[in-house]
Amino acid sequence: MLASGTGTVLGAVLEAGVPVTVVVADRPCRALELASGAGIEALLVDRRVFGGFGPDFDRARYTEVLTDALVARGVDLVAMAGFGTVLGERLHDAFCGRVLNTHPSLLPAFPGWHAVADALAAGVTTTGCTVHLATPEVDAGPILAQEEVPVVEGDTEAVLHERIKQVERRLYPATILRVLDRLESGAPA
Ligand code: GRF
Repeated sequence: MLASGTGTVLGAVLEAGVPVTVVVADRPCRALELASGAGIEALLVDRRVFGGFGPDFDRARYTEVLTDALVARGVDLVAMAGFGTVLGERLHDAFCGRVLNTHPSLLPAFPGWHAVADALAAGVTTTGCTVHLATPEVDAGPILAQEEVPVVEGDTEAVLHERIKQVERRLYPATILRVLDRLESGAPA
């Protein structure tokens, strides 16, 4: 699993019994602590070592190091849950069709890092979450599961995001388990 934040979706994935080999983060974060606490390897591939968050960031090299770490551990499926770095081609070459992402909007609506704020700003009355296969193009791969979530009068970004995450904590583990089943049976993800 790849995560950068509080890791509540990661926590739900672990609770659902998804076999997780390693949790990788791009910065120190609670997701790493959660992994360690659950007895799972917590690996920090620190973005600051690769040029940080500005124009000096070496995305290709970062992707290479992270991908090599996953390959070395024999990972079958890569699942991102709030991972704050867009990874380059090398990851998708190594895990073609085996990279999943969960996103807090009904894609293709509101792609990007500010999906919840963007939905609020657009004044929609329904948003939701999407589990999809990740491709080199951000928030654009084939959709595997989607569920609507209502926007309620007076919602703040935090309140709405939490309502969406409650659904993600159910939908993402269930979808990951379904994909793992398919991979085990030899079918594509
Ligand atoms: C989720 O809403 C996910 O879709 C988004 O980041 C959030 C992760 O939340 N990309 P958490 O860190 O697991 O609480």
